[in-house]
Amino acid sequence: MDEKKTILSGIQPSGALTLGSYLGAIKNWAELAESYDCYYMMADMHTITVRQNPADLRRRTLEQLAAYIAAGLDPEKNTIFIQSHVPAHAELSWVLSCYTMFGELSRMTQFKDKSAKNADNINAGLFTYPVLMAADILLYQADLVPVGEDQKQHVEICRDIANRFNGVYGEVFKLPEPYIGKVGARIMSLQTPENKMSKSDPDQNGCVYMMDRPEDIARKFKRAVTDCDACVRYDVKEKPGISNLMQIYSVATGKSFADIETEFAGRGYGDFKAAVGDAVIELLRPVREEAERLIKDKAYLESVYRAGAERAERTAMRTLRKVYKKVGFVQR
Ligand code: TRP
Repeated sequence: MDEKKTILSGIQPSGALTLGSYLGAIKNWAELAESYDCYYMMADMHTITVRQNPADLRRRTLEQLAAYIAAGLDPEKNTIFIQSHVPAHAELSWVLSCYTMFGELSRMTQFKDKSAKNADNINAGLFTYPVLMAADILLYQADLVPVGEDQKQHVEICRDIANRFNGVYGEVFKLPEPYIGKVGARIMSLQTPENKMSKSDPDQNGCVYMMDRPEDIARKFKRAVTDCDACVRYDVKEKPGISNLMQIYSVATGKSFADIETEFAGRGYGDFKAAVGDAVIELLRPVREEAERLIKDKAYLESVYRAGAERAERTAMRTLRKVYKKVGFVQR
């Protein structure tokens, strides 16, 4: 019997992966493989809620897979797959949509934000996005879902849907909990440190990408927004820019905030920003080089996502069959 708890998470291949997704998510996932049964997906089905260029989506999905592996996710120890390769996601999503209320979907903050941003394309998929995400999670009977702060509401609604279903049919779904990592969970934009570092940031200097060249990384950190008191001190409220850089430097080097304050006492911001840039360059260098190598190895990537889909499907179908039986569908 496998007693390990199950973890599932995913990232939409809607843009290049950022330093934020690396430090806040993927890097931490790699350490979970020994203690948990882990599933990670490229959430390609979620990305089409916003219009995508097909060739770009295909390329970014494979780049994301290469980046996952380069960042240390071992495909032998983790189930890594592409969401659209496992039809059970769409199938369970339909069933769950019949157990999800119009009102609760209308209250989701992400839906409100995204429909404000895409006023010309407020499609039904954008509205039912949380139902598909609930299906992603519940199919694998996940105990824990590593997500950023902004996705907590989605795990909440997933629990509500699961609870409602279980209330009618018995204990079909395990109730998942959000799993918010310790440090580095929230890397902010280098230009507007009040906002999360995001691949959709219109200001290119605010966001460092996992695959950025060293000279671009150095430039972005050099231009990072700080404040005018020239003292390296952790204070998110008063000094959001410096605090964010400290956060990044701390995760990249393992140094504590106190150590960093001592290291840069009496030195200017210029020195500090250069040091953070250098630390990030060295942190990302091996990951980028390995990802670049992998992306050229199409046969290998294909073997990984095929094996991943097969493994994922086996687990997912177990849940889907149970659900179909419970709701009264005739077995084929
Ligand atoms: N909605 C998530 C995001 O944008 C991506 C995602 C899709 C996800 N399905 C998931 C995350 C299931 C965790 C679990 O970040």
